[in-house]
Amino acid sequence: MACFARLMRLAIGAATLLLFVSTASLCVAQDIDPNASAVKEQQLLQEMNRIQGRVSIPDQRSSVLIQPEGREWQAFRNVTLRWIGGVAILGMLAVLIIFYLIRGMVRLESGRSGRTIVRFTSFERFVHWMTATCFIVLAISGLNITFGRPLLLPLIGHEAFSEWSQWAKYAHNYLSFPFTIGVVLILLMWIAGNIPNKVDVDWVKRGGGIVGHDHPPAYRFNAGQKAIYWIVVIGGGLVAATGYQLMFPFYLSGIEGMQFAQIVHSIVAMLFMAVMLAHIYIGTIGMEGAFEAMGSGTVDVNWAEEHHKLWLEEQSERIGARSQPSITAAE
Ligand code: HEM
Repeated sequence: MACFARLMRLAIGAATLLLFVSTASLCVAQDIDPNASAVKEQQLLQEMNRIQGRVSIPDQRSSVLIQPEGREWQAFRNVTLRWIGGVAILGMLAVLIIFYLIRGMVRLESGRSGRTIVRFTSFERFVHWMTATCFIVLAISGLNITFGRPLLLPLIGHEAFSEWSQWAKYAHNYLSFPFTIGVVLILLMWIAGNIPNKVDVDWVKRGGGIVGHDHPPAYRFNAGQKAIYWIVVIGGGLVAATGYQLMFPFYLSGIEGMQFAQIVHSIVAMLFMAVMLAHIYIGTIGMEGAFEAMGSGTVDVNWAEEHHKLWLEEQSERIGARSQPSITAAE
């Protein structure tokens, strides 16, 4: 009996000790002193879900230093985004160089007639070049935000990099306004010619005259140009909407909304830049006579016949004999 009582005392003692130890360790886990030097950042994040302190300024949101989603966003921003941008932009450059080496410039097969036709009015060209100039500056200053630190900083040093980055950031903020106006004007002034129709299907099936040596007919804009138009309107709309959300923090959403906006902004921007490289290629070294359309605003009648036959017919009907042999009004 005495032996049984001793055993019971031992068991109760051991159970009490176990309870004490586990309670104590639970207390330690919950009551972490964030200032203790031994506390690891990762442990803090796991236990408290965030690293937070106290601030004396009115905006209490600034007391949160790190939250778990912030870590995921940071990994996207510093790793995934750089891969997406690098592959999209360098990949497109490589494709264009290979394509140029294989196909060469799309030549004006029937030669020049010497007669020209107005393709874009001066207002249309002004809007195009204003939007394009803003786009190029926004692209370069945006790329500096993504790639400047790892690529440019080691080359030019801290002082020059911070000076340049400050100006690039001003440019990115202020040129966003004329860029947005340009996208809205492009939407309005060219939408009529960019609604997809049956002619586009045939144009795509026949390789658009770029892949082979065919000349599929097209109205004012062919299927390839329509694709560019919609990418500019939708892509431009997306970068503008998300960009303003980032430029005016906390006005439209909380931190999660801003992280999402940054992800959309940066991915769309990278793809947008890759597509615009293809657009610039076709408009310059890719096709003979194309640059004139946006340069002087006029194109050779033979160029219009080869690339926009249906548009030329429409225009000729509209202005009739007046077009011989001079310049007609653009639509
Ligand atoms: C209305 C138009 C636009 C607005 C309001 C805008 C605004 C912004 C803002 C506020 C940022 C964050 C800057 C920072 O972190 O300090 C940003 C980043 C960026 N923007 Fe734009 N932007 C616009 C158009 C564009 C366009 C057209 C492009 C590309 C052609 C572009 C490319 C980028 C890139 C690559 C980043 C850096 C993303 C990152 O690495 O975090 N943006 N933009």
